[in-house]
Amino acid sequence: MQIVTSPKEFSSVCRAWRAQGHTLALAPTMGYLHAGHLSLFTWARANAAKVAATIFVNPTQFGPGEDLDRYPRDPEGDAAKARQAGVDLLYMPQARDMYPQGFATTVSVAGLTSGLCGRSRPGHFDGVATVVTKLLVQALPDVAVFGRKDWQQLAVIRRLAADLDLPVAIEGRPIFREPDGLAMSSRNALLPPEERAQAPHVRKGLLLAHEMVAAGERSPRKVVGAVEDYYRSAMPLARTDYVECVHPETIQPVGDASGPALLAVAVKFPGARLIDNALLAGE
Ligand code: PAJ
Repeated sequence: MQIVTSPKEFSSVCRAWRAQGHTLALAPTMGYLHAGHLSLFTWARANAAKVAATIFVNPTQFGPGEDLDRYPRDPEGDAAKARQAGVDLLYMPQARDMYPQGFATTVSVAGLTSGLCGRSRPGHFDGVATVVTKLLVQALPDVAVFGRKDWQQLAVIRRLAADLDLPVAIEGRPIFREPDGLAMSSRNALLPPEERAQAPHVRKGLLLAHEMVAAGERSPRKVVGAVEDYYRSAMPLARTDYVECVHPETIQPVGDASGPALLAVAVKFPGARLIDNALLAGE
């Protein structure tokens, strides 16, 4: 596995592969790799001749007062895991190389970003859209792979790739979970034990909603209310940021929970903000 840090080097390795006729898959991450990230690398390995992974804790997608400074990092451990998962090229750029003096361009996706995490984290998706566009343009892969844990992010990336005519397929992959159901996240490491013990209830709330819809409930208001009540009693250490029932593609609120409908949630523990989602119906 080759490790590069400069945008020019990254582009030139990818360009050489393309010139040799290799297909290329790209998997962008912020590192502190877990099995969810590695599942993206494994998918890439099985579906392209060459696999590039990126690790960059992108400062522009963190708001003031968010956890940029505390975001967990382990570059050596990550490199070992990426190598093990069959990554050919690991790109670990510095912020000053991604955003040199004078950097002035923002990629901003309207509509899809108005609700959910876009509402509670103003500017977040501009940061994501801009960095992902840069990575896609630097590598020009055949396919780029992302997780459905960040469902809204995936929708934003699909939109920007289509709107900017980027010649890249976007692949969405399933959510990987801990044995107790908690969605894997680098941020889980920031939870002290008593918060970590309550965190599996995030997923249990999604299952509760799923059961209600399977039993015939169609009112998003009732489903959301039940999940909010559950979170209040099961996770006293957390504050619910949002529980919403939206259309899986438009990310707009739906009037009927029986489909197509995605329940998307975010809860804020003192140690970390966690997100999760589940399709209630419609797939
Ligand atoms: P990060 O949170 O490191 O996630 C990198 C990729 O791994 C994303 O596509 C995310 O959806 C996926 N992922 C995270 N947890 C997962 C899980 N439990 N199961 C499956 N996939 C999972 O998302 C980002 O980084 C950044 O916003 C990025 C796209 C890299 C832009 O900076």
